[in-house]
Amino acid sequence: MDAWARARMFQSYLDDQSEKGQWNYRLLTSSGCGPVIEMNGKKLISLVSNDYLGFTQHPAVKQAAVAGIMKYGAGAGASPAIGGHYDYHELLEKKIARFFRKEHAIIYTTGYTSNSASLQCILTKDDLVILDAGVHTSVMEGCQMVNRKTVKHNDLAAYEHILKMSAGKHPLLLVIIDGVFSQDGDLAPLKEIIALCKKYGAKLMVDDAHGTGVIGKTGRGLIEACDAWEDIDLITGTFSKTFGHIGGYVVAGEEMVNYLKYQSRQHLFSASSTPAALAIVKAIELVDEEPLWMSALHANIKYFRQGLLELGLNIGSTESAIFPVRIGDKIKNAKVCFALQQKGVYANQINYPAVSLKDARIRMGITARHEKAHLDEVLNHSYLNNED
Ligand SMILES: Cc1ncc(COP(=O)(O)O)c(C=O)c1O
Repeated sequence: MDAWARARMFQSYLDDQSEKGQWNYRLLTSSGCGPVIEMNGKKLISLVSNDYLGFTQHPAVKQAAVAGIMKYGAGAGASPAIGGHYDYHELLEKKIARFFRKEHAIIYTTGYTSNSASLQCILTKDDLVILDAGVHTSVMEGCQMVNRKTVKHNDLAAYEHILKMSAGKHPLLLVIIDGVFSQDGDLAPLKEIIALCKKYGAKLMVDDAHGTGVIGKTGRGLIEACDAWEDIDLITGTFSKTFGHIGGYVVAGEEMVNYLKYQSRQHLFSASSTPAALAIVKAIELVDEEPLWMSALHANIKYFRQGLLELGLNIGSTESAIFPVRIGDKIKNAKVCFALQQKGVYANQINYPAVSLKDARIRMGITARHEKAHLDEVLNHSYLNNED
């Protein structure tokens, strides 16, 4: 089948799902990101954003974006190697590196490419990459053309088995994990994985897209929570969640960062971030300047978690702002999600292939800006666990 035939087939699937009210993607929102959004003229409590500290709407963050545009214009006009590298990019690279107590970082225009593009540049076909099954698609894409072994989520015995079998047999052994996993909201057993990497001579990459700004005493994520500053070879993440904008980064040693700056094609041959990226610089500062947002987020996480547990819902072992309410069956999941929307709650249904067939769930994300009344409103819909 050529692409047009496949598209036709997909269209009939799309139409069928929409008719059954089971299609829940690319829904049109007509207000800004926040705890309450507007859809089709109706207000809904939103549990779909990763704007953990609410910085997309912080006046100082918005002001920094506007000031950046007023000073430098709307775009960078070129890729970094050939005229599109400005002082605000340099500032952002320094800021994010220092946020993680390091000196060197490279920025990408999305969090997705900070994983996929850096890995495509780093890995060769002789290397072996060992991935947790829960890592993001962008990591999988970066490892597509190389030897890879996917380990059952957080299964330390499986990590050890593969590392033991592979030690010394590849130029590079690279283990890749999330800090906070994006679908389960749980944490990687970081200390144990570091110990295994050291034992078998593997390097370690941690994507803490969902831990940054959320966990660790000052919001530096799992690396801070485990005091593992010296043990991670590549820290990756995104500016689209806690930092309220768009873009991504790789924090690493000087030589690796320079290597990526001049060898990573998607960085080298693609236009650099717009001056609105100065919003990120402000957001990074605000994590330290205004700790009240992290405190508010933690209070909300505690309250919501307790409420979901009191309803008897299965939320797995989340320890973050992500709440996977396990429904199990895909059809029922879609129905619950649709019913929630009818009642004024916007949450995402997560189905296969994002999770295994039996693990369909409603993914609920909490931010610092949700009020108790919003959370109570969601918790009042106890039919979340109704069998019918
Ligand atoms: C764990 C993880 N890494 C990377 C990304 C990609 O980041 P972005 O959406 O900013 O491109 C995501 C996005 O959801 C993610 O969940």
